[in-house]
This record gives sequence, C-alpha cells and structure tokens, in this order.
Amino acid sequence: MSDGASPQPELFDHVVNLCKRRGFVFPSAEIYGGFRSTYDYGPVGVLMLRNVKDAWWRSIVQRRHDVVGLDASILGPPQVWEASGHLTNFTDPLVDCRECGQRFREDSLESGDVCPHCGAEKSFTEARQFNLMFKTQAGPVSGADAYLRPETAQGMFINFANVQFTSRKKPPFGIAQIGKSFRNEITPGNFVFRTREFEQMEMEYFVPPDEAQKWYDYWCGERLDWYVELGIDPGLLRLRPHGDDELSHYSSETSDVEFLFPWGWGELEGIANRGDYDLIQHADHSGHRLDFFDQATNTRYVPHVIEPAAGATRAMMAFLIAGYRTEMVRDEERTVLGLHPRIAPFVAAVLPLSRKAELIEPAQKLFSELAEHFNTDFDETQAIGKRYRRQDEIGTPYCVTYDFDSLDDGAVTIRDRDTMDQVRIPLAGVVPWIQAKLV
Ligand code: GAP
Repeated sequence: MSDGASPQPELFDHVVNLCKRRGFVFPSAEIYGGFRSTYDYGPVGVLMLRNVKDAWWRSIVQRRHDVVGLDASILGPPQVWEASGHLTNFTDPLVDCRECGQRFREDSLESGDVCPHCGAEKSFTEARQFNLMFKTQAGPVSGADAYLRPETAQGMFINFANVQFTSRKKPPFGIAQIGKSFRNEITPGNFVFRTREFEQMEMEYFVPPDEAQKWYDYWCGERLDWYVELGIDPGLLRLRPHGDDELSHYSSETSDVEFLFPWGWGELEGIANRGDYDLIQHADHSGHRLDFFDQATNTRYVPHVIEPAAGATRAMMAFLIAGYRTEMVRDEERTVLGLHPRIAPFVAAVLPLSRKAELIEPAQKLFSELAEHFNTDFDETQAIGKRYRRQDEIGTPYCVTYDFDSLDDGAVTIRDRDTMDQVRIPLAGVVPWIQAKLV
C-alpha cells in the first residue's frame, strides 16, 4: 500500500516531547530516575489509549455477531506455557559484549561484529537462547511457579470449550480479548514501541479447516482497513508477508500490518494462520477435548485458527505519529494532532470566552450535557487563542466557545481543529452535530 513515503527521524523527538509536555505518556517511576522501558499514561494518554481499545472492540466485537469477548487471567501455571510451546520456543538469541558487558539481541545488531555500546570488535560471546517470559511465584513462601502471560491468545485457547458451549457459537466464530502482556525483551526501546509491559488486542477466529485460507485473506484486509478508517494515510501502511525463517513456532502463514515509523517500517499487528496447533497442544496436555461437533454434517473436527494480534500501546504510538503536524498560521507556528474524533482524547472542549460568572455557569451546563455523550474538556484559563492551540496539540477536533452573544441568541461557535472554520450552532443542536462526526 505504500506509495514510497520515507521515514522522518526528527518526528520521533517531537512526538515524545509532546507526549510528556501535554500529559500523554510519562516515563514510569520518574521521580526515582525512571525504570527502563516502563511508561505511565497521563490524563490525556489514558483517554486516548482507551479510545484505541474501544475502537478495536467496537469493530471486532460490538459490530459483529460472530465474535465474543473474554477477559482471562494474566497469571498462568507452567502447564499452559509448556503446552503452548512458549517454555521451549519463546526465546531470542542473546549475546554479551566481553568488553563492556552489555547484552544484545543478536538479530538486532546492525553491524554484526561491532558492539553498539563500546565499539569493540569481534567481542561478542556465542549466542544463547533467552526465554522472554517473566516467571514468578504464586502464593507465600516457595509458592507454585507461575508466569505472566506473554500474549493474551492462550486465554482464548484454554477457554475454547467454555466459550463455545456457553455462547453456542459455531465456526466460523471468534474470541477476542484486550489486556496486558509481558515480555522480558532484551532490547526494549523506541519509546512505547517495544516495552516489557504492554497491551494487546487479539482475536482468535476458529474456522473449519478448509476455510482457513479464505479467512486469513479476509482478516488481512479487514485489519489493514481499520487503521485507514481511523485516519492513517494508506501510504504509511503496508501488509508484509513473513518469510519462512520468520514464522513463529505455531504459524504456517503470517502477514504483518506495518507502519512507517520515524526510524523505518515497523510491525503494528500480525495476522497469523495458527492452524490447529494450539487446540491440539492443549487437548493433548490437559486431557480435555477441544474440538467441534458439527451436527449438520455429523462430523467432529479441530477448528483452525486465524489470529489478528495487535498492540494497543503500539497502535496508539502510530496514531500519534501519523497525526502530528506543524503549520504556519499568520506567522505563528501551530502544532496539531490530526487524530480521528474516535481516537482523540477529547471529542470536544467547552471554552467560555471570559471568566465572568455569567458565562462560566451556562458553559459548565453545556459541558455537563456534552460529557454525558463523549469525553469533553473544559478550559477557562488564558486567552482564547492560546486555549485553541492547546486543544490543537492534544488533538481535540471541536472547540465549543460560549461567548456573550450566546446569552442572547442561545447559540455557540464550534471551531474545527483542522480547517479552523467556525460555525454557529444552537445550543440544543451541539450534541447531534458532534455525534454526526463520530460515525
Ligand atoms: N498472539 C500472537 C502475538 O502475540 P506478536 O506479533 O508477538 O503476536 C502481537 O504480538 C502484537 O503485540 C505486535 O504486533 C505488537 O503490536 C504488540 N507487541 C508485541 N511485543 C511488544 C512489545 N514488547 N511492546 C509493545 N508491543 C508489543
């Protein structure tokens, strides 16, 4: 889909700075010097991240009758990860620099023999396989071994029978889940792109085996479209099939939806054909039957699985980068986050033109009305121009200004973030006017 756009390295710093300055993302434990690769989502960041997850849930679960939701536990016993293959296969090749002691993922080293930290040549140890799962103990004093899940997917497989029985769904049907996953990444980095704690949005779509290819193609198309519908320029997206040497241990075919990050193309989401690998593994290891009896044909089969697996935190970063722009307006630079109204932290901001009580009170009433329907900000500080700029920077699509004329004509001005055009709307029409933009 890419039309030859090129990476923009300077964008990265601009977006990271904006995230800190405006309360999207803070380095975690900052007052203690930070804790590498962990981040906290601030007042506007938490709204945006929830919007990303809500947009995914809306498209994958709410608007479909063939997909149901699940919220499975994060902690799991070793048996789950033994069966899934993660205890054996979920590893990255790790090398140490003998000179400076730094550790690297072997396959991430750009110039094979040279240490990126100290510049020493040919100083690396032999690669050894490092398991990325976080291990812990459940229960006091030498409790049972447990793992933090490295993907949400296994929760869907081990609940296949529970969900299928209670929902009465027949293949093709899906189980979807959003939640935290944990990986002890050797080289986290690029802000929230690769972290050790992150959020995933995954769906396991169970299909009759002979329909797997059809559904794989279908979900590749659907998932690419989702990012475009939410405002990412198609020239910044592409679908890249994995080579045989890249495939995960469970996959026979995978394509990544990639985004042109400031440092180059990077994965946003993988769509994998997992075949019957997971259900067979869990059936064998648990002794429980995990298959489907098709009454129409009187046959029993193990469904195959097509899995679109996305990162919520990574998607949020892509939306921020894709939306960021600066432009000159009457000799003054303005920074705009051109976020889709469904993704923007606030859909609207109510701005009383002055701090006089005669405006503040009705403006607060309007805020309460709007806040019933969507995230709304209220800002009475500073000059109106500065308030517009602040809302532009956090991506608020519509600023609603309550002015002195409003007291007489019962109308307000709505300013569009992108065009800066203003329209006068009767108070009673504000909610439907904005709601029409959210479709
Ligand atoms: N169940 C399949 C699975 O987990 P994956 O490609 O390893 O597949 C899916 O992960 C998505 O999760 C990735 O495309 C990415 O968006 C996100 N993700 C994976 N590791 C991540 C990390 N360390 N930090 C942030 N997001 C990550």
